[in-house]
Amino acid sequence: MTTPCLPARDSESIQHAADLLRGGGLVGMPTETVYGLAADAGNADAVARLYAAKGRPRFNPLIAHVTGPEMAARLVEIPKLARRLMDAFWPGPLTLVLPKKTDAPVCDLANAGLDTIALRAPAHPAAQALLRTLDRPLVAPSANPSGRISPTCAAHVLDELGERIEAVLDGGDCPVGLESTVIAVLGDTATLLRPGGLARDAIEPLTGPLASPGDTAAPASPGMLKSHYAPSAPVRLDAHEARAGEVLLGFGEIAGDLNLSATGDLAEAATGLFAALRKLDAMGAQAIAVAPIPDQGLGEAINDRLRRAAAPRDET
Ligand code: TXA
Ligand code: MG
Repeated sequence: MTTPCLPARDSESIQHAADLLRGGGLVGMPTETVYGLAADAGNADAVARLYAAKGRPRFNPLIAHVTGPEMAARLVEIPKLARRLMDAFWPGPLTLVLPKKTDAPVCDLANAGLDTIALRAPAHPAAQALLRTLDRPLVAPSANPSGRISPTCAAHVLDELGERIEAVLDGGDCPVGLESTVIAVLGDTATLLRPGGLARDAIEPLTGPLASPGDTAAPASPGMLKSHYAPSAPVRLDAHEARAGEVLLGFGEIAGDLNLSATGDLAEAATGLFAALRKLDAMGAQAIAVAPIPDQGLGEAINDRLRRAAAPRDET
């Protein structure tokens, strides 16, 4: 049977997706960053199926998605600094790791038994509608097999996980294109665990310089594997031209076989990055070479993903 692809704008689709999730199902959910694979955060059986569907190691905790600060307060303690970040950037591509409340409606498997939970309020209207309808948090890792490229449209989800899920809500292409920025807030210290769709320069005016894991007591993100976001072909970085057998992903003046942004716009490059890697991979070249990307603004997250895509595959 083919997996239903439900138009996310229809309220009937949202109702149907909500019913599937209430019944312990797995549903592909559009967010502004990437598509997530959603399950009811409080349903341990559904969450176990979710880890299995992705082939995700169970020590790698999931992000709980909420409508906003009010639903977040059911799950976690909210230090003042975290509240200021929520007020400034939610809904949007910012995930906060905060101390878990003992009665949080999230099963232990969802946050890998830690005493913290990562949570974010997605801005995509379909994700918000689904969360409002259910009035419960949804865990949703990116909807790709573990270690592979994150999906930025419904077709990517169906291609790779279609057989293992109940449905996907089609909300079009993801406007941000990179996963959320993950920040742990312990008291008044903010630690950057994963660069992402909200750039450091936007956050630091509120937090001061972000700490790195290792500088502070905040645990590193257990899921930050060295090799990740990997296409099938090996990836070579900082390339100014393609060598024999390679296809080239360009940026700015380096045109390449595909150009992430001819004008050198980092937001445009972020939006198209994962789809471009998929397209180049499908060309069947021996390797994918990638032009240098400046490390400013969203470039920090783009380069983080590219380094992982290029990392030796046996080091996961
Ligand atoms: O944009 C996004 O964040 C997407 C969309 C679907 O919301 N989701 C996403 O989820 O990227 P996932 O599971 O692929 O990445 C979650 C990241 C992992 O690096 C994980 O280790 C980290 O967040 N994480 C989750 N809970 C944590 C916790 N309690 N402490 C530290 N890191 C945590
Ligand atoms: Mg992921």
